Amino acid sequence: MSERNDRGAVRGNRANSARVYDYILGGKDHYAVDRETAEASLRAWPGLRASMLANRATMRRMAHWLTAEAGIRQFLDIGTGIPTEPNLHQVVQRQAPESRIVYVDNDPIVLAHADALMRSTPEGRTAYIQADMTTPGSLLTEPALRETLDLNEPVALTVIAMLQFVKDAQGLVETLMEPLAPGSYLALTLATGDLAPESGALAREYTQQGIPMYLRTRAEVDALFAGLDLVEPGVTPMTSWRPADGDTSPVAATNMYAGVARKP
Ligand SMILES: C[S@@+](CC[C@H](N)C(=O)[O-])C[C@H]1O[C@@H](n2cnc3c(N)ncnc32)[C@H](O)[C@@H]1O
Repeated sequence: MSERNDRGAVRGNRANSARVYDYILGGKDHYAVDRETAEASLRAWPGLRASMLANRATMRRMAHWLTAEAGIRQFLDIGTGIPTEPNLHQVVQRQAPESRIVYVDNDPIVLAHADALMRSTPEGRTAYIQADMTTPGSLLTEPALRETLDLNEPVALTVIAMLQFVKDAQGLVETLMEPLAPGSYLALTLATGDLAPESGALAREYTQQGIPMYLRTRAEVDALFAGLDLVEPGVTPMTSWRPADGDTSPVAATNMYAGVARKP
């Protein structure tokens, strides 16, 4: 995105995780400071681009599984990111057009692109809420959430490649899962230092550029699913979470764990 042609979003003089991610994925919505952070991050850990692509693919496999296999028709997606097709609602509504999806992010640039997230099927519905997930409790009272989702019915809470930016990941997950009906699901991907120890340099680079990044251990990831029933294959490197036929992404291309679990 050219600096002269921004769409009303706040122009940052600090790097921002959504725009760095967009740059590395080949999008158009980033400033010079984001590009510099992205390039420095790629130098720090060259596996980053492959990992981001693998993350998008994992999100799509999870969304498809939740819709096709688990029968979920309502989604609450936290840390949505700048739209990258196919977005979650497109994967879900292709399978079940009546599905309802609420997207949440705190970056004004994601808000500026929310129209792409709002293109629901006529049978379904999507909504976008700008909110900071370091205080997740207030999200639950948002009218757009209550108007779009029926919390008496199961909801899939999808938190994809986002919790590494939140200090209190456990609190966020517990607060948002608590009001969801039995039969709801939690779907996560998040960064770890366990799988690609070199990615520690990446976390330091992000943190130095003003985007604190918290790499979680396997034990910390397991704790996020406490009280829930993990579906097969449990918590795995994300490329091993129900890989598609013929998917040969090497585990080494990931610095992220993935898991999906059902609320009993
Ligand atoms: C790496 S992107 C992931 C986007 C998408 N979920 C995906 O996996 O492709 C992380 C997203 O989390 C958002 N985010 C980070 N901290 C947040 C916060 N405190 N509240 C809401 N969103 C946040 C960023 O703006 C960014 O869009």
